[in-house]
Amino acid sequence: MEGMTEERLEEIRVKYGAMGWKEELWPLVRLLSAMELHGIVEIGTFKGGMLKIWEKLLEEDGVLITIDKRNEVKTWDLKETTKNLTFIQGLSQD
Ligand SMILES: C[S@@+](CC[C@H](N)C(=O)[O-])C[C@H]1O[C@@H](n2cnc3c(N)ncnc32)[C@H](O)[C@@H]1O
Repeated sequence: MEGMTEERLEEIRVKYGAMGWKEELWPLVRLLSAMELHGIVEIGTFKGGMLKIWEKLLEEDGVLITIDKRNEVKTWDLKETTKNLTFIQGLSQD
């Protein structure tokens, strides 16, 4: 997992349009940073802002799956990731 600081998180949050308040996000990310994350599933990709944060928190050998009924990811090219990332367009309950 890439080192994460509050300042780095804020840069990513703004640049990639992650939804969620800065004040809420850092406590969560700090907690997760202390863990080895080998699998993450996100429901609700939207612009891909939080997805960029999950990508940074994921271990190199981890698997990241993100699901959205719409394809609105516009803030970054998911093909550029070095991680095992899959975007599924569809409803999470299907
Ligand atoms: C608040 S946005 C997600 C924001 C994103 N996680 C972020 O912070 O960068 C909610 C997204 O969830 C998607 N969504 C809501 N219900 C869903 C469902 N049942 N299955 C798939 N996508 C869903 C919507 O299309 C929308 O893009």
